Amino acid sequence: MSNDGVNKGRRRFLLGATSALGAVGVVGVAVPFVASWNPSAKARAAGAPVRADISKLQPGQQMTIEWRGKPVWVIYRTPEMIANLDKLNDQVADPQSAVPQQPGYISGVLRSIKPEYAVMIGICTHLGCSPTYRPEIAPADLGDDWLGGFFCPCHGSRFDLSGRVYKGVPAPVNLEIPPYKYEADGTIVIGVDQENA
Ligand code: FES
Repeated sequence: MSNDGVNKGRRRFLLGATSALGAVGVVGVAVPFVASWNPSAKARAAGAPVRADISKLQPGQQMTIEWRGKPVWVIYRTPEMIANLDKLNDQVADPQSAVPQQPGYISGVLRSIKPEYAVMIGICTHLGCSPTYRPEIAPADLGDDWLGGFFCPCHGSRFDLSGRVYKGVPAPVNLEIPPYKYEADGTIVIGVDQENA
């Protein structure tokens, strides 16, 4: 069966956790047993935080970082892009990020730790396609009031440069924002909360 591996993996994890708890009084016996149930290095790496150097990103550019098999976008927003976000508040469904599609330390219109760097998971919240980065102003195919954002080619959902979903499109909520933090040298770490920094 195709999900056999998943179930076995889960059982292994549970057994490992139980063994670890029981190991307090019987270290000599428990250690080899726990070791034999440890998840593989590959499995641990799949859920590990990912570090990326964003210093080469130029204003207006987007880069993609893979985290847990998902594309995480970092967009270096220009002052003009940031100023335009407020103009879209009436056109987007959740202008202040009320729906919890982001960690608690992310909020409001900018949906970011640093105003210039937008960070979000590049998967459409409708059915999971990958939207296209369309930073240009008023391109012919997106209309005169397009101020830059993301367009999903599958069913036409639109998001602004904060990942806020437009009203009246199939996607129900804003793009998801992963936990992330910055390190002292400007490196970004995806998968670790800012609060724990
Ligand atoms: S998957 Fe994006 S609009 Fe349907």
